[in-house]
Amino acid sequence: MAGEAATSATGAADETVSWEVADRATDAGATPRRGFLHRVLRLLCGSFLATGLTALAATHLIWLLGTLRFLFPNVLIEAPTTFRAGPPDQLSPGAVDTRYVARFGAWIVRYVYDGRPQIYALRAVCTHLGCTPQWLEAEQKFKCPCHGSGFYKDGMHFEGPAPRPLERYAIRLAEDGQLEVDTSRTFQQELGEWQDPDCFVDA
Ligand code: FES
Repeated sequence: MAGEAATSATGAADETVSWEVADRATDAGATPRRGFLHRVLRLLCGSFLATGLTALAATHLIWLLGTLRFLFPNVLIEAPTTFRAGPPDQLSPGAVDTRYVARFGAWIVRYVYDGRPQIYALRAVCTHLGCTPQWLEAEQKFKCPCHGSGFYKDGMHFEGPAPRPLERYAIRLAEDGQLEVDTSRTFQQELGEWQDPDCFVDA
């Protein structure tokens, strides 16, 4: 009996020693990074005070990042406002060039206005509520799909709710012999601005 107890006690002691050895082996095998993380976590969340201070520091950090965000606003990359529309003689009399509508919002037109043959750039924006009209070659007019306003080839409105003609962009003959359109400048017929030589090229 006494022998059995002694054997049992010896077995328990052996087991304890083997666990300790195993723990030490595990500790020794743990990577330095894991140990570091454990220490940081214990430091940050080891008590109510530490947890509270960590939360406070995190709140201040978020506030600081939000403030910095306002100090550095988004960079706005704008599309160029001028474009080349080819040489004037590529347009036959009465032609409406629709190639620049999608990218620059302009039709290049060779037509007669006020008895004067000219090339001008019409702004592809309806003067009712701003939709993009379409050029209908068969009907020789610009038609707005939103509420039905219609404009003649010279830009004058004649049907629908649009209260005034289409606008023109600035246009000139550049040094390289091509038409250059500047979409940063507009000209309104009802203000008498279509007389300005900056909004047409004689054709
Ligand atoms: S937006 Fe063109 S008719 Fe209304």
